[in-house]
Amino acid sequence: MGRSRAPRAPLTSGGFRDLFGAPPSFAVHAPGRVNLIGEHVDYAGRPVLPMAIDRGVTLRARPRNDMHVRLANTHSRFGEREFDVGPSIPPSPAGDWGNFAKAAVQGLARAGLPSSGFDGLVSSNLPPAAGLSSSSALVVAVALASLAAAGEPVPPEAGPLPLASLLARAEHYAGARGGGMDQAAILAGRRGRALRVEFDPLRVHAVPVPGDWSFVVADSLETAEKTGRAREVYNARRLEVERALAVAGEGSLPRGSVARRRLRHVESETARVGRAERALLEGDAAAFGRLMVSSHESLRDDFEVSTPRLDGLVEAALDAGASGARLTGAGLGGCIVALVPASTTAEFLSRLHAGWYERHAPSSGRDSAFAVSAAEGARIVSVD
Ligand code: GLA
Repeated sequence: MGRSRAPRAPLTSGGFRDLFGAPPSFAVHAPGRVNLIGEHVDYAGRPVLPMAIDRGVTLRARPRNDMHVRLANTHSRFGEREFDVGPSIPPSPAGDWGNFAKAAVQGLARAGLPSSGFDGLVSSNLPPAAGLSSSSALVVAVALASLAAAGEPVPPEAGPLPLASLLARAEHYAGARGGGMDQAAILAGRRGRALRVEFDPLRVHAVPVPGDWSFVVADSLETAEKTGRAREVYNARRLEVERALAVAGEGSLPRGSVARRRLRHVESETARVGRAERALLEGDAAAFGRLMVSSHESLRDDFEVSTPRLDGLVEAALDAGASGARLTGAGLGGCIVALVPASTTAEFLSRLHAGWYERHAPSSGRDSAFAVSAAEGARIVSVD
């Protein structure tokens, strides 16, 4: 617990020039994502309902004349990393942030896509290890930078989805056997729209978010490092689900077994995603909110990926006036997402601070909980 709150260097191209001796020639922005509903079901091939958000990773970059990648990070917790582009890049120690960059570049090389070396400076306004896909946003940003450095169109001419599938597999290099939700949401995000993401084959359908709905993300400040226990539990759950689905296909799972509970989550969550999409289309916030609460309960009881802190934060969000709230992302720490009437967002945030943060994280800043809006997917942005 206790996320590092190291100060960030100012986000200027001057910082880039100091590091690399020349200004950046382009910048890539890859948004984070919040999953509204459909948790721990993407790797079972079931639909999910995330949206890309208006916070993310920005990578200022400058192509090099060789195949070397040099990366710095404005967050002092993440030191400089360098490596060569290629199909077999030796990994850094487990948990190192450089592995997400290596994953992207190795993935492109293995797929035979043109990529090139570059100098890059990463900055992010996503809390790391908090369930908002900061790692996958980094993977996507590095991949797009490497493609752009090689003169490839960004986003790719084939559209964002083939690259999303490729990068979802490529990210396994860093150790967590994720499904494909994050990369799809990050690459195919649409302003003002949630995304129904379906798998095998990957498809994305945009669903407008009603203007009077506001989604608020609240950080429990309990880190869910994709590199430590959270990763082990994640991979274990994925295996449990794959086995449970295989056994259920052949016959029945023993009553009361763990496998049965895991599968009950997958089935009930799948049904909730369908209902939630209808509620979204109909603007029925009460129904959507109830589905969020059931999703949280299922993740807590059947899937066992919640924590007492996340449960308490969900309760506090409901007490503060949310129509619904649930853990978002892989769980075991990180953030919750709450649905709040847009007109009462400021009041909701004040109540949540008084009701939860002042008691459980008194030294946390006001930025631990914030409203998010649905944003465009990863793209080239202007260099400042
Ligand atoms: C992580 C993974 C996703 C998904 C979620 C849980 O974010 O990267 O693929 O499985 O956890 O829904």
